[in-house]
Amino acid sequence: MTNFSSNHNLATESFLISRDQKEALNGQKAFVVWLTGLSGAGKSTIARNLEVALFKAGIRTLILDGDNTRMSINRDLDFSIAGRQENIRRVAEMAKLLNDAGVVVITAFISPFEVDRIQARTIIGEDCFIEVFVDAPLDVCMERDTKGLYQKAIKGELKDFTGISSPYEAPGNPKLTVQTKDQKPEDSVMQIVAWMKSNYYI
Ligand code: ADX
Repeated sequence: MTNFSSNHNLATESFLISRDQKEALNGQKAFVVWLTGLSGAGKSTIARNLEVALFKAGIRTLILDGDNTRMSINRDLDFSIAGRQENIRRVAEMAKLLNDAGVVVITAFISPFEVDRIQARTIIGEDCFIEVFVDAPLDVCMERDTKGLYQKAIKGELKDFTGISSPYEAPGNPKLTVQTKDQKPEDSVMQIVAWMKSNYYI
């Protein structure tokens, strides 16, 4: 893939309505809740339920989810290290654009590599990047195997599968961790919402 980032014939255009004005119009602060964790840890379920909680509180949101994104805008990407890096970079850029429109974004991606999450945080901005580690032990995720993918990976029918044939690097310093082995998704959502309130995000 050609990298145009060093193209000297480009310049940033700026516009007349600021992000602050858009946030004010929406009556909310814009930020990203970045859910990271193994497949089957509960990221998508938490994202769905968190969106409902925020919607009920009058907050405008959008979910970016791994499976959906990989079937649409990122359909050209694989699960190699480079494919995942580009996946996360594009997601971070999309999330940033949505934040610029004053919208809260919830992302649900395995995002297994710390370096890619750091890049996402840099794109989105430290203050607006709420990294949430959706933590469930690998054996619990394998037991759940909601999509049957762990079985496929163990049989060797699926390569580069996170936790089996590709690593997952747990976040070193997440804003918060939800333990989903025993905790119900509603309780994880309550924990996240409480954190957002006490840190003045909502
Ligand atoms: S990420 O690693 O690049 O962040 P992402 O969250 O977009 O991954 O996609 C993960 C989803 O893709 C999983 O929930 C699973 O349904 C599906 N999937 C298909 N192949 C793989 C694979 N090799 N590793 C992980 N997930 C896979």
